[in-house]
Amino acid sequence: MVVLQNLLLLFVFAIISFGDLILAAGGINNEDVDRRKLATENPGFISIDCGVEDDYFDDATGIFFKSDKDFISSGENHQTSPEFDFNNNQFGKRYKTLRSFPQGRKNCYTLKLEQAKNNSYRIRASFSYGNFDGKNQAPKFDLYIGVNYWTTVEFSFTRRFYEVIHVFPADTEYVCLVNTGSGTPLISSLEIRPSNYSTSGTGSSALINMGIYDLGSDAGQQVSVRYKDDIYDRVWYPAQLPSSVPFNTSLDIDIQGSGNLYKLPAEVLRTAVQPSNGSKSLTFSSSFNSDYEYNVYFHFAELEDLGNGQLRELSITLNGVKYGPVTLEYLNPLSISFQKLRIEGNIDFTIDSTIESGLPPILNGLEFYQLHQFQLAPTDLSDVDAVMSIKHTYKINRDDWQGDPCLPKEYSWSGLSCRFNSTPRIISLNLSASKLTGEIPPSLADLQAIESIDLSYNELTGSVPEVLARLPNLKVLDLSGNNLKGSIPRSLKDKSDNGSLLLSFSENKKSCPKDSCEENNKKFIVPLVASIVSVLALVILVSILVIFYRIKRRKQTEVVNTTASKKEGLLKSKNRPFTYSEIARVTDNFKNEIGVGGFGKVFLGHLNDDTPVAVKLLSSSSKQGYKEFQAEAQLLMIVHHKNLVSLIGYFKDDDNMALVYEFMSNGDLRGHLSETNKTVLNWKQRLLIATDAAQGLDYLHNGCKPPIVHRDLKTSNILLTESMQAKIADFGLSRVFSTDSASYTSTCPAGTVGYLDPEFHASGNLNKKSDVYSFGVILFELITGLPAIIRISAEDSINLLQWVSPIIQKGDIRNIVDPKLQNDFNVNTAWKAVEIAMSCVLPNSMQRPDMSHVFAELKECLALEIALGRNDQRVQNEMTRLSNSMEMTSLEMESDMFPFAR
Ligand SMILES: *[C@@H]1O[C@H](CO)[C@@H](O)[C@H](O)[C@H]1NC(C)=O
Ligand SMILES: *[C@@H]1O[C@H](CO)[C@@H](O)[C@H](O)[C@H]1NC(C)=O
Ligand SMILES: *[C@@H]1O[C@H](CO)[C@@H](O)[C@H](O)[C@H]1NC(C)=O
Ligand SMILES: *[C@@H]1O[C@H](CO)[C@@H](O)[C@H](O)[C@H]1NC(C)=O
Ligand SMILES: *[C@@H]1O[C@H](CO)[C@@H](O)[C@H](O)[C@H]1NC(C)=O
Ligand SMILES: *[C@@H]1O[C@H](CO)[C@@H](O)[C@H](O)[C@H]1NC(C)=O
Repeated sequence: MVVLQNLLLLFVFAIISFGDLILAAGGINNEDVDRRKLATENPGFISIDCGVEDDYFDDATGIFFKSDKDFISSGENHQTSPEFDFNNNQFGKRYKTLRSFPQGRKNCYTLKLEQAKNNSYRIRASFSYGNFDGKNQAPKFDLYIGVNYWTTVEFSFTRRFYEVIHVFPADTEYVCLVNTGSGTPLISSLEIRPSNYSTSGTGSSALINMGIYDLGSDAGQQVSVRYKDDIYDRVWYPAQLPSSVPFNTSLDIDIQGSGNLYKLPAEVLRTAVQPSNGSKSLTFSSSFNSDYEYNVYFHFAELEDLGNGQLRELSITLNGVKYGPVTLEYLNPLSISFQKLRIEGNIDFTIDSTIESGLPPILNGLEFYQLHQFQLAPTDLSDVDAVMSIKHTYKINRDDWQGDPCLPKEYSWSGLSCRFNSTPRIISLNLSASKLTGEIPPSLADLQAIESIDLSYNELTGSVPEVLARLPNLKVLDLSGNNLKGSIPRSLKDKSDNGSLLLSFSENKKSCPKDSCEENNKKFIVPLVASIVSVLALVILVSILVIFYRIKRRKQTEVVNTTASKKEGLLKSKNRPFTYSEIARVTDNFKNEIGVGGFGKVFLGHLNDDTPVAVKLLSSSSKQGYKEFQAEAQLLMIVHHKNLVSLIGYFKDDDNMALVYEFMSNGDLRGHLSETNKTVLNWKQRLLIATDAAQGLDYLHNGCKPPIVHRDLKTSNILLTESMQAKIADFGLSRVFSTDSASYTSTCPAGTVGYLDPEFHASGNLNKKSDVYSFGVILFELITGLPAIIRISAEDSINLLQWVSPIIQKGDIRNIVDPKLQNDFNVNTAWKAVEIAMSCVLPNSMQRPDMSHVFAELKECLALEIALGRNDQRVQNEMTRLSNSMEMTSLEMESDMFPFAR
């Protein structure tokens, strides 16, 4: 926080310490507000006001706040003392009440969101002590997000918030306050907001907000922009750079356009700063903690109509690395991010205008984030579910049974112990003498890693569930001192007899005094009980299997269409099985062969309404049964996205199989890149195609449930529409169909030489990251124009990556980019594309980014290309800059995507 204050001091008009939250009085008209409706209008938001009794609609922010009652079971409600009750509309009510936690060392809020897993959220925790206890002593304590340390909360009498962007590892996440012996933890509010800032490829890093600034905004008004102006509810502080003057426009900014990658609100972009004395640069410098890396985001929009086609052109130099020049377009947003910036004590930047432009530089918005590695994974989810179910069944009300059961290590739940591998597992549970009543819950059997269970000296009734015998590692089971009935299931008894399980069942008074059941009644009771139990078990097992099977079937067909649902109406109505005569009619008796794909011949056809289609006739060698084929085809037919070639229908009988696809009039990408093709795809078209394909693949990976792995991505599987929109073809097929293509080896289930994930040979399976690898090769083909396998002589060929890597090392972009472009490309966007491609083909699949990240990066790259326009200086002027940054570029290639970042 010291760093932060230093930073703020440099803002001449920084109006208030970071600790004090200023809320925008978002112009909400009270009469018009339908409270319930507004609540549902905050999709993905959770807004909790801690310590209030009832939910309420906050007029100041336009947000529906919930009481924290349903999110936490411990703690006490309090009110801040009246002198800290700021009677100001802007603050809302959140700081008036708080919850404090005199009991327990770890207290956790449980946050549940639908489909939150793997999505990134901005989590804001606000604190005000307000002398609620009359002790004039504010506490200091630790804050955890899930199982990872987030920050130490420190404040005196100020109001303060902390904010982190974090990817939820599951649909449920916890925010925990940990008492470290410096006072009773407390909290005023907790807000969860969707965020699509990339927290870097691995998902384990988190971004800590170090400042979000609305530059040039009228600081005198002391109003921050936030929800509802900002759909992600960032809080934008009004601020200025040193030696700068503000200016603004009231005109509309094109915030819907694709340049607005971070969905900035118009209110932030409408104001900007420029140098105060007509100088040509804006500068900034502040000290930051060198132990961390940083992401810095610069946001621009031209606010002046310069006329005569004049454009403002600027370049950014951040910690010695220059980026640009970039050209600003009138009223169009442009964001430039520097990610994973390593620093030595300072972040400093200069924004210069180029001599050509002659206009001073501007800056509209600025964000700093510190990268933290959240390395710990939460406890195995099925263990968590099982122990949660036990907690609820027995109504166990222990102070420390909150948040994750195993982590943080020093605050794991009492009565259980864990093994800390990459995913912690629960290995023992001791609920001895815990006044448990009722039956032994079968969910115990879900603790699959458990080695020791002690339920002794409780008041448990009923019989001993047989499922316990199925715990593979169970070595100790103590059930003594309860009121359990019947005998011990044979399977458990066997384990105990042969010494693999230490079983205690003494002092179960009601049931078997003095071994009488064991000895005397055994003869008939045991067989009788055993047969009843086994019949029952069989019935239960069968019904579970049936239910399970049904659920599974349902899940498989539940392909979720989020983005593409609008377009699908037209095609969907035609989706169906075809008959052979229909197929023959559609293709006019297979008259017009238009190609041979990996799975067989392709024919042009026309549906009744003249819609052109491509009909793939598949070889009948497939061993797949009709049912599997039909299930798979039906699944693929409901996958619709603008960047995926739609499957319209299918056909299968004993001899033939056919798939009917939407027709793509411009053929495949390989053809367009080949030497022999007459027209040349220009650089922007290539970036567009790459972005389209990335979006399609991202949809297969992240939009479909279950995700679809393509397994055989290549340029011949990327098809182009009449308007050169790219769509991915043949997804989901390799799993079902064997193939006769020469490009497959007999041992590979899928994958084409030159595109195949090197890890495949080790692991033998293809996953999302294998697709990312293939996508990287495709990107290199787009950049170089070369095929994935380059023939160098009649016998010899080399891999495109083998060819390109040494040239990248030398840093010679002109020798990488397709010579057919005749140097008509932007060096910055070309480098960025190369970096993205490099990150995709990293040998270690863990290090490769997710497709969502690749897509976001490509979109940024494309936006930059569009922003730069075609009239900027091209290759020739860039060589100086590149030779300076080359050393760093090749260094960074190893692990990072952002060579400009140092
Ligand atoms: C979340 O990501 C992990 C690892 O990247 C993956 O295994 C899992 O399937 C993903 N889950 C969802 C719901 O997307
Ligand atoms: C815009 O500029 C005018 C005059 O320079 C100033 O009065 C006004 O407060 C500014 N508006 C904002 C939102 O900063
Ligand atoms: C954030 O989400 C919006 C809307 O889905 C999208 O347009 C934008 O490109 C995303 N930005 C990033 C950086 O992913
Ligand atoms: C004006 O800018 C120049 C350099 O850009 C700087 O050296 C000078 O101190 C500035 N003058 C004032 C009055 O801020
Ligand atoms: C369970 O806890 C009780 C009391 O703390 C202790 O006596 C007993 O030995 C423990 N059981 C096991 C299996 O460790
Ligand atoms: C004991 O019996 C169980 C169940 O019959 C069996 O799975 C296990 O391998 C046996 N263990 C030993 C040490 O014989």
